[in-house]
Amino acid sequence: MKHLIDPLDLTVEEIKELLDVANQIEADPQRYAHACEGKKLATLFYEPSTRTRLSFEAAMLNLGGKVLGFSSADSSSAAKGESIADTIRVVSCYADICAMRHPKEGAPLVASRFSKIPVINAGDGGHQHPTQTLTDLLTIRSLKGRLSDLTIGLCGDLKFGRTVHSLIKSLARYQGIRFVLISPNELRIPDYIREEVLRSQHIPFEEVESLESVMPQLDILYMTRVQRERFFNEEDYVRLKDSYILDMEKMANAKPDMAILHPLPRVNEIAVEVDNDPRAAYFKQAQYGVYVRMALILKLLEVEVC
Ligand code: CP
Repeated sequence: MKHLIDPLDLTVEEIKELLDVANQIEADPQRYAHACEGKKLATLFYEPSTRTRLSFEAAMLNLGGKVLGFSSADSSSAAKGESIADTIRVVSCYADICAMRHPKEGAPLVASRFSKIPVINAGDGGHQHPTQTLTDLLTIRSLKGRLSDLTIGLCGDLKFGRTVHSLIKSLARYQGIRFVLISPNELRIPDYIREEVLRSQHIPFEEVESLESVMPQLDILYMTRVQRERFFNEEDYVRLKDSYILDMEKMANAKPDMAILHPLPRVNEIAVEVDNDPRAAYFKQAQYGVYVRMALILKLLEVEVC
């Protein structure tokens, strides 16, 4: 049985196949409308979510399946002290596949070891978020026509931003990728990403504090929220939360075809005025999340659609 815990659980070829299926679903959703009839998806969310949980649920409903689950630890028996291992053993009796979000890094991996059904990591602490990465890859490929030969700027909370960690790990496997890592000193990428992913594979990257100075180079600007929930004290969060605010003045120096991505939710880091710029792709990105999660459910449940 296959799980999706880390973005590298999928090969580059498997990712291409998933993105191709997602594009086919976008073009002809009716063809997939009954593909998962009789199947159930469990969404086990121990941490808040809008996009990931609802797009997983929309994905399964679009495939003709059903959904069940919980949206907070407080409304599950985790509040009574139940372990992840026991929870997933039980959920394996009720559903065919599950998506799990948890504040503790590694919780979905633990679940996968006790599960009788495929487990999808829907975000574990400040660690990884592989299905957001599939969404991001589908968005980039759809907008740019390729996943190679791109200069990608990642801006904001690169320390705690799990979407950033997963995206760097995935994009590092494509040719001609260069990263510009834009963050305050306190929120730089973790050492394991810098050393084990970037330096060890000789991927070109630079780390800077100024967004303005690098804007003209970028093909993609991936903005991120400062992750309040991962800070140890509120004072540090308040000091850093508005480090970057993308507005139309800054956009004046961007390439005419630079794409702005953001995993969302947004707080202050993209001014609302930017939403009307044709380069703003973050709401389209959220839509792509449904197609690619549909493709992933089909793959993990080994459903063939004729
Ligand atoms: N991008 C993302 O993970 O959003 P949610 O936290 O709303 O699921």
